[in-house]
Amino acid sequence: MTVAPTSAIPAVNVASVPQRSPLRYPGGKTWLVPHIRHWLTDPSPLLVEPFVGGGIVSLTAVMEGLADRALMVDRDRDVAAFWRAALMHGDELADRVLEFPVSRPAIEELERRVPETVLDHGFRTLVLNRTRRGGVLAPGAALTRNGENGNGVGSRWYPQTLADRLANIVAQADRLTFCEGDGLAVLELTATIDGVRLFVDPPYTGAGGKRAGSRLYAHNVVCHRHIFEALSRSGCDFLMTYDCSPEIVELVSEHGFEAVTVRMKNAHHDRIPELVITRDRLFA
Ligand SMILES: C[S@@+](CC[C@H](N)C(=O)[O-])C[C@H]1O[C@@H](n2cnc3c(N)ncnc32)[C@H](O)[C@@H]1O
Repeated sequence: MTVAPTSAIPAVNVASVPQRSPLRYPGGKTWLVPHIRHWLTDPSPLLVEPFVGGGIVSLTAVMEGLADRALMVDRDRDVAAFWRAALMHGDELADRVLEFPVSRPAIEELERRVPETVLDHGFRTLVLNRTRRGGVLAPGAALTRNGENGNGVGSRWYPQTLADRLANIVAQADRLTFCEGDGLAVLELTATIDGVRLFVDPPYTGAGGKRAGSRLYAHNVVCHRHIFEALSRSGCDFLMTYDCSPEIVELVSEHGFEAVTVRMKNAHHDRIPELVITRDRLFA
């Protein structure tokens, strides 16, 4: 297996770039923001993010003027409800955040209640995302036990910060579109449109038997070869991230793409190499 060269742009400390998403996303891409800025130096009319999760790349691109508009796609219905609520009822969602009396019983009550509206559902997603261990929304995820610095379930619940992030999203809502569905189908459809740029961050392969994706996301199986083939056929401009697994390194070489590695720190402070893949050489 040929190992990809190290990127000329290092992973940044996530505290040094603006945190724009209200969601804490496992596999979130805040560390990649400098690569995104470099990639989109020449701004794009439309950025498509077919596996959007917490959406840090779409939000950054639109808010920093790197893309005129972003189309965000995710198959997870809880994540979808959050984005719909944020984009269509962002002010009410922010009010609920500011009023929520965060406590274990209040969270458990919210978890039990079946949401009646998109706003209810989006709010529930946001609360569970910020109070479950590691931000994991997949079935079976537990509430954080001791929280950050022993501050309990509310240790990642920063009401004013979240309300501010939601206000920034509301201000850009006419440039952000969310669609619940299959990212792969949207990728195939949009990749052929002139001028579209794609940021592709699928659930990882979970190489080494870890199957990290199945623990982190409710939807965690995609055909990686299919993604590579669709991108290769279309000739579109894309930036894709993956775990550095033999399967992906092989697909990169088979399709003649360029890849660099970036060593980013995971939650346990280990430096794990991730692949940043593009059609042309950008970061080596
Ligand atoms: C690695 S995460 C994306 C993280 C995101 N880049 C961020 O910074 O927050 C992968 C996402 O893909 C979604 N997903 C999985 N399969 C999908 C599919 N077929 N279509 C659309 N979304 C899918 C998962 O729900 C998850 O939110």
